[in-house]
Amino acid sequence: MAVDVLLGLQWGDEGKGKIVDVLAPRYQVVARFQGGPNAGHTLEFDGFKHVLHQIPSGIFRQEVQNIIGNGVVLDPIIFKKEIEGLAHFNLDLKKNLEISKKASIILPTHRLLDAAYELAKGKEKIGSTLKGIGPTYTDKISRQGLRVGDMISPNFPEKYKALVDRHKAILDVYKYEYDLTEAEAAFFEAVEFMKQFALVDSEYSVNNAINLGKTILAEGAQGSLLDVDFGSYPFVTSSNTISAGACTGLGVAPKNIGEVFGIFKAYATRVGSGPFPTELEDEVGESMRQEGREFGSTTGRPRRCGWIDLPALKYAMMINGVTQLIMMKADVLNIFEEILVCTAYEMPDGTVTDHIPFEITDIKVKPIYASLPGWHCSLEGMRDFNELPAELTNYIAFLEKYLNLPINFISTGPDREACVLRGSLA
Ligand code: GDP
Ligand code: IMO
Ligand code: MG
Repeated sequence: MAVDVLLGLQWGDEGKGKIVDVLAPRYQVVARFQGGPNAGHTLEFDGFKHVLHQIPSGIFRQEVQNIIGNGVVLDPIIFKKEIEGLAHFNLDLKKNLEISKKASIILPTHRLLDAAYELAKGKEKIGSTLKGIGPTYTDKISRQGLRVGDMISPNFPEKYKALVDRHKAILDVYKYEYDLTEAEAAFFEAVEFMKQFALVDSEYSVNNAINLGKTILAEGAQGSLLDVDFGSYPFVTSSNTISAGACTGLGVAPKNIGEVFGIFKAYATRVGSGPFPTELEDEVGESMRQEGREFGSTTGRPRRCGWIDLPALKYAMMINGVTQLIMMKADVLNIFEEILVCTAYEMPDGTVTDHIPFEITDIKVKPIYASLPGWHCSLEGMRDFNELPAELTNYIAFLEKYLNLPINFISTGPDREACVLRGSLA
């Protein structure tokens, strides 16, 4: 079977974790293909709330094989904590979790470098989650990183030391002070811990699954507007978050990509720095933040909030080849009498565009809005499209017309059950 890809179309935190969990029973394999513990994917069911950082969101479905692919940057210390945090769910993690030997390892010094670089940037900081993502991908691309498979090599300690010595030289240049003792001990303990899991050539696992006709879902992290090539550079993450990333991050040939599920919030949020044309820095934004509980799943930082940005969404759909749209957090807009939708930008010279300008990080574009009436009622318990208030179906129809694709799945709450499905998905 082809590999379906599920990813975020905005700046992350769209609700990918929830939907992977909801769709997982339809899949035999769920695989993460990029990112690392900068991700925080929240799942809610049976009154539990659980946040996953590196482990795929199919993990709570016993029959699903979960894979951490080669494109991921993996922090062993966080991995150990995550596994320990799953202990009371009685999952057979040694059986249904595989880790690519080609996944990159985040060292404690990568986290220090992340902090040193951000500190040096001052006001210009990216707003990184400080999990060491950028420095680890930098080492991967500059061909000096360590990979999961290296952990089982007898000369791992030497390889580790050679890289750490290079990191220390950089940290000295930045005059960054640190004490590695505790983190290093935790790192080596976590490396030993990781060895009891299935460390594999996951490109074979994935391609064998394809050849056996198994159903496979690739789970994206971050969002398309944080993609290192197509996002608001330099205010991006360091991986390809778009559908093409699933090919390189898992070893899947492009011809084997099937559906591309594009997940977006009914409004927009962003954590960290960088352009956000529709951002609301007023009480409307604040009520969106409170209503949507918009505080980072990984760092706890308040998320910046604003109205939906259709030019940005359309751009993300184009880059990803989205075939299915899923709208999240519709319920958060319940509180508004009027809902604004950005349909184009006014450039500083007065011209109007519906493209994302290259200069987006250096100029301030003014969003041009359409105004739609709010529905102003609770959506609780609604499961059928026909039950939705007319103003909400009108809002959906407006988006569908602009984006030229139906929205067949609407999420109305954090719980697994809070979903409205129209027609069939995949
Ligand atoms: P991800 O990184 O894309 O998986 O998203 P996060 O888990 O970081 O953030 C999404 C947040 O919204 C989480 O707290 C979810 O529990 C919550 N959530 C998901 N879907 C809905 C929804 O439809 N309505 C509401 N109110 N919350 C939702
Ligand atoms: P999920 O998978 C939202 C943001 C950071 C920062 C920028 C770079 O939960 O949607 P990094 O740590 O990668 O160097 O940070 O990217 N960022 C995210 N924002 N959701 C995420 O993941 C994110 N991962 C990174 O806030 O602005
Ligand atoms: Mg998140």
